[in-house]
Amino acid sequence: DESQTFYDAVGGEETFTRLVRRFYQGVADDPVLRPLYPEEDLGPAEERLRLFLMQYWGGPRTYSDQRGHPRLRMRHAPFRVGSRERDHWLGHMRAAVDELELPEALDRQLWGYFVYAAQSMVNTPDEE
Ligand code: HEM
Repeated sequence: DESQTFYDAVGGEETFTRLVRRFYQGVADDPVLRPLYPEEDLGPAEERLRLFLMQYWGGPRTYSDQRGHPRLRMRHAPFRVGSRERDHWLGHMRAAVDELELPEALDRQLWGYFVYAAQSMVNTPDEE
């Protein structure tokens, strides 16, 4: 069906819930990333990423109802995101995407987006 969104094609809300849960399980034990998160409870951060991704891929617009325009680069400005943080972020996301076992074309589309988006969040150059 040509009108089907990517959100529907990958399995809707349940798929994004699984993806983001698995991703944050990785973040929780990551010595590079965990200190960046201001709150002790990662649950609210997990929910924000879950709702953002659902909206981005054509699902419900709950993220913007709650948070307004995403402006993600600006929202990451308070955190030091260098190539090291980017690579750790992508490492946990790769493991989370793997567990979805999506058809190859959908996997490639999702992964290509994450690689691009993570690079665009880098706000701190590598040290010499
Ligand atoms: C928020 C780190 C990449 C989407 C956050 C927060 C941190 C963080 C520390 C604040 C946690 C919170 O919401 O309470 C990082 C690091 C990245 C990265 C180190 C490495 C490149 C990305 C990417 C995306 C993303 C690629 C999207 C594909 C979000 C969203 C929020 C968020 C939606 C919540 C924004 C809000 O509504 O306040 N991130 N992030 N992040 N991040 Fe990232």
